Amino acid sequence: MDARFFLALSLCFFFFLFFFPHVSHSRARISDVIPKKQTVGSLIRMKRGPSSATFDPSRVSQLSWSPRAFIYKNFLSEEECDHLINLAKDKLEVSMVADNDSGKSIKSEVRTSSGMFLSKAQDEVVSNIESKIAAWTFLPIENGEAMQILHYENGQKYEPHFDYFHDKANQELGGHRVATVLMYLSNVEKGGETVFPHAQVKTVEAKDEVLSDCAKNGYSVKPFKGDALLFFSLLPNATTDPNSLHGSCPVIEGEKWSATKWIHVRSFEDSIRQGTSGECKDANANCFTWAKAGECEKNPVYMVGSEDLPGFCRKSCKVCSS
Ligand SMILES: *[C@@H]1O[C@H](CO)[C@@H](O)[C@H](O)[C@H]1NC(C)=O
Ligand SMILES: *[C@@H]1O[C@H](CO)[C@@H](O)[C@H](O)[C@H]1NC(C)=O
Repeated sequence: MDARFFLALSLCFFFFLFFFPHVSHSRARISDVIPKKQTVGSLIRMKRGPSSATFDPSRVSQLSWSPRAFIYKNFLSEEECDHLINLAKDKLEVSMVADNDSGKSIKSEVRTSSGMFLSKAQDEVVSNIESKIAAWTFLPIENGEAMQILHYENGQKYEPHFDYFHDKANQELGGHRVATVLMYLSNVEKGGETVFPHAQVKTVEAKDEVLSDCAKNGYSVKPFKGDALLFFSLLPNATTDPNSLHGSCPVIEGEKWSATKWIHVRSFEDSIRQGTSGECKDANANCFTWAKAGECEKNPVYMVGSEDLPGFCRKSCKVCSS
């Protein structure tokens, strides 16, 4: 072979590798991945222990880049929605907010819903939903808090707020909240929209959707049973995103049920474990109140925990001594 021709050919080859480096790697990667993950059509299956969750990217659309927000149509089935409501409905308490300075949970006019926390992997349905959230967000289950179920009726709302914390105590638990997955468990006849007052979006919801006045104060998402909204409270450079400000508009007609999964920068489970290992500490500012309300007996998985995964309120439940 002519040496010049060979040189030219080699240069072409390196040129190709330089601009399309992924081509040379993709084969190796695919074979690495296949044993752990099966791909069926557009469904991505991810395994975690005995349960497996599917995530269908064709049902996800991007709503806004500022904040980064996405909607997943029919993320939960009717049955999953009803199941979550049933787990929660006898255990609702007035919702609280975190005090800016101390991080303590306090009652506030800005939040008038009632709610409760499930336990992580409380049952198979909850555990499957948690796997599905991890598959969709690409964020591990251990970074998530336990799901919170919320109930809003006539006039109840949550004024615009941030999901990231302003106080140090809460930030120590797994770092900032990076993302929130908000699942709508019911339809709402009127009101109850999730509103982002600072969103930089030009597009508005379809015209036939009747929005409440509150919802017109920004970019709004109308709740539909089974849909899930994912938004990020941190920017890609890991600073807090002021445009992630969001609220729940007052319910005008009907009632609203939702489930929230907050996901942190680091492992939330690890920080709970570290926070409690050896030391007799509560990991949530509500522990004392919850313990007084009998939650140590009613909700032992979350409150007391096990040896492997100590609960959040061991001190208030008096299962350790300092
Ligand atoms: C907490 O701090 C934020 C940002 O400084 C502020 O917008 C908000 O109103 C404060 N909330 C309360 C309850 O003081
Ligand atoms: C992070 O990104 C935002 C938005 O692009 C920018 O305004 C901010 O200055 C950046 N902060 C840092 C520390 O890079």
